[in-house]
Amino acid sequence: MPLLQVKNMTHFFSGLRAVHNYNLVIEPGEIHGLIGPNGAGKTTIFNLITGVYTPTEGEILLEGKSIVGLQPHEIASRGLGRTFQNMRLWRHMTVLEHVKMAHYSKLTYGLVGAFFGTAKRYREEGEIEEHSMELLELLGVAQFADQNVLNLPYGVQRKVEMARALAVKPKILFLDEPTVGMTPEELVGMMEVFRTIHKEFGPAIFLIEHRMKVVMELCEQIQTLNFGEVIAEGTPEQIQRNPKVIEAYLGKEEVE
Ligand SMILES: Nc1ncnc2c1ncn2[C@@H]1O[C@H](COP(=O)(O)OP(=O)(O)O)[C@@H](O)[C@H]1O
Ligand SMILES: [Mg+2]
Repeated sequence: MPLLQVKNMTHFFSGLRAVHNYNLVIEPGEIHGLIGPNGAGKTTIFNLITGVYTPTEGEILLEGKSIVGLQPHEIASRGLGRTFQNMRLWRHMTVLEHVKMAHYSKLTYGLVGAFFGTAKRYREEGEIEEHSMELLELLGVAQFADQNVLNLPYGVQRKVEMARALAVKPKILFLDEPTVGMTPEELVGMMEVFRTIHKEFGPAIFLIEHRMKVVMELCEQIQTLNFGEVIAEGTPEQIQRNPKVIEAYLGKEEVE
């Protein structure tokens, strides 16, 4: 059984067909890339699978079970973690607080415990802090734990966002343009982070990425999207040689 399977998914935004007859299979541990020009529908596909929108048509199965119509937090708790194209970090929280926060969806003590500080709560909070620090160390940003995220360089913020997504121990991690706006040095660091995450935690990764170097080096399977439709699918070598891809995408966009 595939980890994630999408069958014939179509989505309309008030008359505009943003995604048409989209299919996807991701096996456990696989790194899958999604590329395509701006406005092709990549983020919409992420939003459909992660429950931000409900598809007009189609099936989405996570470990064989339908997740269509579930709330984003329910889908997250079934093992799907994500980052956003535009980072959603909170202004007045430290790096460590961000990553700790992300654990709370998993907690069992509930609101009453949160209010009255039960023993269980304290035990869990200690574990959460420890796990959060481990994640920050793994991503190489532990030294910023007590700083306010918004004062930190962009590349560091991106890593915090990723640590937050990893907090729930996802079986699959969705990353929407994680290297956008990064300097070349930050980019090299980020590629290393992807490899570390994959090696240490082994989640499948579904990556939207506009930098060809990143996609081609990391992904095993790549889909190219244009006007909401997959126009090519295959290994990095197959994609790079595909004339439709070159015409729709590679010819026009920045190739690094
Ligand atoms: N919430 C929305 N309401 C209406 N149209 C949307 C919405 N989100 C995206 N779109 C439209 O859907 C198309 C695909 O957008 P998007 O998925 O963001 O593309 P990409 O991520 O590939 O750049 C675009 O035409 C965009 O304007
Ligand atoms: Mg997008």
